[in-house]
Amino acid sequence: MSQEHLEQAIRANSNPTDLVGQVIHYHIQTKHHFHRYARSLGYLDWANQPDPFRRYEGAQLITLPLLKPDEEPVSPSYDSIYQNGAVPTQPVTVRTLSRFFEFALALSAWKKAGESEWALRSNPSSGNLHPTEGYVLVPQMEGLDLKSGLYHYAPKEHGLELRAEFAAEQLAQLLAPFPPSAFVFGLTSIQWREAWKYGERGFRYCNHDAGHAIGTARIAASTLGWNMALLDGSAQNTVAMLLGTHRADDFLGVEPEHPDCLAIVWPSNEARSEKKEIPLFLDSVLVKVLADGVWHGRPNRLSQDHGVHWDIIDEAAEASWKVQSETPVLQPPKGFVSLSDTLHASRTTSNAGTIIRQRRSAVSFDGKTAISAATFFRMMQLVMPRVERPQLERPMPWDAWPYDPAIHLMLFIHRVGGLTPGLYFLVRDPKKLTFIQESMNPELNWTMAPGTPDDLPLYWLLEGDARQLAGQVSCHQDIAGDSAFSFGMLAEFEGSLRDKGAWWYPRLFWESGVLGQVLYLEAEAAGVRATGIGCFFDDPVHEIVAMKGLSLQSLYHFTIGGPVEDRRLTTLPAYHHLKT
Ligand SMILES: Cc1cc2nc3c(=O)[nH]c(=O)nc-3n(C[C@H](O)[C@H](O)[C@H](O)COP(=O)(O)O)c2cc1C
Repeated sequence: MSQEHLEQAIRANSNPTDLVGQVIHYHIQTKHHFHRYARSLGYLDWANQPDPFRRYEGAQLITLPLLKPDEEPVSPSYDSIYQNGAVPTQPVTVRTLSRFFEFALALSAWKKAGESEWALRSNPSSGNLHPTEGYVLVPQMEGLDLKSGLYHYAPKEHGLELRAEFAAEQLAQLLAPFPPSAFVFGLTSIQWREAWKYGERGFRYCNHDAGHAIGTARIAASTLGWNMALLDGSAQNTVAMLLGTHRADDFLGVEPEHPDCLAIVWPSNEARSEKKEIPLFLDSVLVKVLADGVWHGRPNRLSQDHGVHWDIIDEAAEASWKVQSETPVLQPPKGFVSLSDTLHASRTTSNAGTIIRQRRSAVSFDGKTAISAATFFRMMQLVMPRVERPQLERPMPWDAWPYDPAIHLMLFIHRVGGLTPGLYFLVRDPKKLTFIQESMNPELNWTMAPGTPDDLPLYWLLEGDARQLAGQVSCHQDIAGDSAFSFGMLAEFEGSLRDKGAWWYPRLFWESGVLGQVLYLEAEAAGVRATGIGCFFDDPVHEIVAMKGLSLQSLYHFTIGGPVEDRRLTTLPAYHHLKT
């Protein structure tokens, strides 16, 4: 059956009770084709451009200290965040929380062109629209001068808005199963921000961005010697209740927030001394009780007018709503597995904070810069979750991700020393090799790429100059061909959805976002630069390797190479607006 016929059949069969069918329908409907882009307004309605900063009017704002790079807590070396146990564990205080948010979600600079000025952040975002909102739930803790409750992070002010006060004993009870000094980090998405520009495809981008934010948060935590794990056993109603997104009256007349995920964050040495299992869910009954606490603030309206509303985003969000709760647990780490011995050392002497602050997306590449094979192999090693290990002993940030990998890389190698240009494939879970091979053109040649370290399942499929092809399938964007290499992230798609359920659909995007975040930073450390690519022609990508049906689908593209600066733009410091 041809791809088109298969997709028609899925559309025809999609019914309201088949939730997986509905998310697959969303996916198919929002593909870009050579002859037709996914549906959107088709122009930018500047008058109604959404405000990138949500505020809760009436909620108390506690500003976090703006810490200079050399102030305590000083950032560890970039290399050390990938070495288990190498970063000294910091206590949870207002200063360390300030660093955590600085590296996870804060402003990183302002850009100025003529009269226009816009902020960039530690987390990247499709179209710089920043649909992702961050929250933190903190209990009463020694050394932390904050009321116990839920706070919304306000990036422009670098402050925490007290959204809800929760009784200290009740919150302590909710967090009792976790290591001491644990707190909860949460993310929501304001889908309107992406839909305003990208229309129906916006739900995909919100989830990519949520994935990047999971990545920035995990990496931020690592700079403080903290651990993090996604609490993905919780049903989405629990996430909604805890983050207050279900409070319909608060959101009357303003853009709603979609509850995405919760994560538990804790100082690493606490779990080691405790040696207890760590649940990956919250007690939903206790969350219900907490949600009866005192809530503050009314969210601001982000656009005056909304023009078109894209119903299919609501449908996909509803179909992928995680209804069931599960009770997975994490085994405490048994010992340290140091990755440093197996990794090619990065050549940076920078500290992690410098790399995080300087991260930017390249707007164009020079078409010349090559990277060495050692640099490339290290990049690939950092995105290998090492499935054979228990979760907490997987390398950062994969220790936060409670699933085996479902994303694999189809790489267009243009300029990597020692590797013949062509098409390569990284199988992130070696068990999946046969499934992946069977999903593609049987005539492809799966040879190990020459010089590849033994622990890296990197295969060489085809030789050839893929620069033009990479650009063509990435919506004709030269950034995919002018770099050193670019790739498509191929997700195990229909099978994994049918197996797990429709709630799995956003997770595939989250995983791709976490992966992209690792490489955004690694590119900076290697003296080059990266850019995420959400715009690509879906099926033409699949046709490159004659992908069968919907077994694998490309979800996100990415490119890394020698950047060319746009000299028309001026850069201003992140918080200059607060100092003047
Ligand atoms: C999910 C995602 C998709 C993106 N897609 C594209 C793209 O197709 N083309 C592009 O030039 N940049 C793309 N970007 C880069 C964003 O435009 C960039 O992150 C944003 O402008 C903020 O700039 P910064 O990354 O330098 O902070 C994408 C970024 C993300 C996170």
